[in-house]
Order: sequence, then C-alpha cells, then structure tokens
Amino acid sequence: ITLSASPDVSHIHWHHGAVGRLEKERLLRQTGCLLWFTGLSGSGKSTVACLVEQMLLAQGKLTKVIDGDNLRHGLNSGLGFSPADREENIRRAGEVGKLLVETGIIAIASLISPYARDRQKIRARLAPGDFVEVFMDIPLATCEARDCKGLYKKARAGIIKEFTGISDPYDRPEHPELVLTDRAPDGSLLSAQDLAEAVIGYLQQTGHLT
Ligand code: PPS
Repeated sequence: ITLSASPDVSHIHWHHGAVGRLEKERLLRQTGCLLWFTGLSGSGKSTVACLVEQMLLAQGKLTKVIDGDNLRHGLNSGLGFSPADREENIRRAGEVGKLLVETGIIAIASLISPYARDRQKIRARLAPGDFVEVFMDIPLATCEARDCKGLYKKARAGIIKEFTGISDPYDRPEHPELVLTDRAPDGSLLSAQDLAEAVIGYLQQTGHLT
C-alpha cells in the first residue's frame, strides 16, 4: 500500500450528525473522557488501566481500554517502532479515543507514547478536561527487573532495536494530570490496586464521575 503523504481534503466537507455527544452522555449517565496512560514498557500501564476499567464498571460506567499491544494486532498492524511508526500508532489510538469520548465513553488508552510531541497532538485534538494524561513514573531499573515479557533482556542484547528506555528515548511528561509512582511518601510499596484507586480518586475530584 502506498499512502499519499498529505492528500488534498479541501473538497471534503464535515457532515454534522443528528445526535450529539450530550444526548449520548445523558443516555449513559456519564461524561466521556480519554485517560491516557504513558510510561515505559513494564511500568504497569495496562495492569492499572484494566483495574480502573473494572472499578468504573462497578460504578456503572461504560469504558473501553485501548491497549497499544492489542492495537498492533489489528488497526495498527504493519506499524513498527521507528519514530514515524510510533507517531502514526499513537495518532490512530488518539483518534479512536476521541471517537469514544464523542460517544460519551470513558476511554482508557495504554501506550508507551514516548514522544512528548505525539502526546501533545492528541491533547490538542480534545477539549480541555477531556484528555487526562496519566504518567506511570516507574524507574527504568524497576521495569527492567520485572521484565515480564523478556523484552529488556533482548533489547540489552541488541536483538530488539529502538527499545524505549534502552536504545530509544522516553520524554517524561512535563504537565501530566496525574503521576503514579510505586512508592508512597512514607516509602512503602504501592500496589496496582492502590494506583488504580488514585486514578478513580482523581476522576471523582475533577467531576468526571458525577
Ligand atoms: S508506542 O511507543 O506507544 O508506539 O508503543 P506501544 O504501541 O505502546 O507498544 C509497546 C509494546 O510493544 C512491545 N515492544 C516495544 N516497546 C518499546 N520499544 C520497542 N522497540 C518495542 N518492541 C516491542 C512492548 O511489549 C510494549 O508493550 P508494554 O505493554 O508497554 O510493555
């Protein structure tokens, strides 16, 4: 497939539907938003995202997890890990998230999304308050020690190239809505459940769950 770089869409007009987001939110009795989990591989993004989804379901909220790994089996198959492919991967995930938010759904994206500019572009596509950036601030050493999928070992051995944190950069979010770490202020270890509860607490405080 050859995609044209920037096709001319000036002759394509926006079609306004008959049913808007508010009607859908009223139907669902909730307000849509896009929770965007970013962080290193093995930082626990998907684990916490799924726990948040379970907790929201228990509160009667309709959600959808958008998992980076899973998208690469379908919508984003064919994309690799070069900067351009990651950009397109994240752009598509962001657009899916936007569609879900417009349906009144609480979308929960879980992608490394290592480049600040790509995350910023998604933020800019959504209305203020609809994009909630959740930074899984887990040290590289911890993620590497976990190495749940054995990928860090392969990256260190040079078998996997362009691996985030090892041979590819990760831009720490500068102004995320929420930062999750694995340590409480008193130094005790926090569980994935604790982190998911912090996300729910944030959504409650900011009126997303009323
Ligand atoms: S990105 O950067 O947002 O486009 O990446 P994402 O779509 O979230 O996919 C990350 C998962 O792909 C696996 N993987 C890699 N990660 C980083 N760098 C390289 N080179 C790479 N190759 C494969 C890895 O399992 C990531 O999953 P998580 O869940 O983050 O561990």
